[in-house]
Amino acid sequence: MIYKILILEFALVCILSTSAKSEEEKKRYNYDFEIRPVNRCPMNESDWKAASIRVGCNDTFKYHCLPDRFHSTLIEFCYTSPRSMIEKGNCVELAYNGVLNNVKCENFTEGCPDSPYLSDEIYKYPVCLNLTLRCFTSDKNCLYKK
Ligand SMILES: *[C@@H]1O[C@H](CO)[C@@H](O)[C@H](O)[C@H]1NC(C)=O
Ligand SMILES: *[C@@H]1O[C@H](CO)[C@@H](O)[C@H](O)[C@H]1NC(C)=O
Ligand SMILES: *[C@@H]1O[C@H](CO)[C@@H](O)[C@H](O)[C@H]1NC(C)=O
Ligand SMILES: *[C@@H]1O[C@H](CO)[C@@H](O)[C@H](O)[C@H]1NC(C)=O
Repeated sequence: MIYKILILEFALVCILSTSAKSEEEKKRYNYDFEIRPVNRCPMNESDWKAASIRVGCNDTFKYHCLPDRFHSTLIEFCYTSPRSMIEKGNCVELAYNGVLNNVKCENFTEGCPDSPYLSDEIYKYPVCLNLTLRCFTSDKNCLYKK
């Protein structure tokens, strides 16, 4: 009996600390929907779909995975706004207010998108999902400054 209560308590503490953590993330970013930092984004369509199911996104709130506004980490989230068409020559970041911002990549060493694409098809452009030292890995100008 006591054993069962302990397990329940433990579960409760886990749930509470998880939601406290995501509240903290929300505050840090000031997005009005939940985001999760991830080490990598899915890099093809089948993995992208699997991730969407895992996270619980749907056709209205579409799965996205892309750099945060500090370019410090990749984040995944179900986007509460419609996906957007990104012009060629741009990667994307999630800006402070939860809007997708274009990030010019014309001077990246390789892989800058050469045609328009939908924000939830960014996995077609690995260079837009590769970060290091708060820079895109292919953004040498940014890296030199660090
Ligand atoms: C998708 O990417 C994952 C991870 O890189 C890989 O294991 C998988 O084979 C890929 N699937 C396809 C269909 O390319
Ligand atoms: C999609 O998910 C959101 C958030 O969980 C939910 O509010 C909405 O009803 C869902 N839409 C559909 C079409 O399932
Ligand atoms: C790319 O490099 C060119 C030449 O140095 C410069 O004029 C331009 O402003 C750069 N673009 C960006 C987005 O930094
Ligand atoms: C990310 O960039 C590094 C360094 O340029 C490269 O070695 C690695 O293969 C890239 N990863 C992806 C997924 O593109």
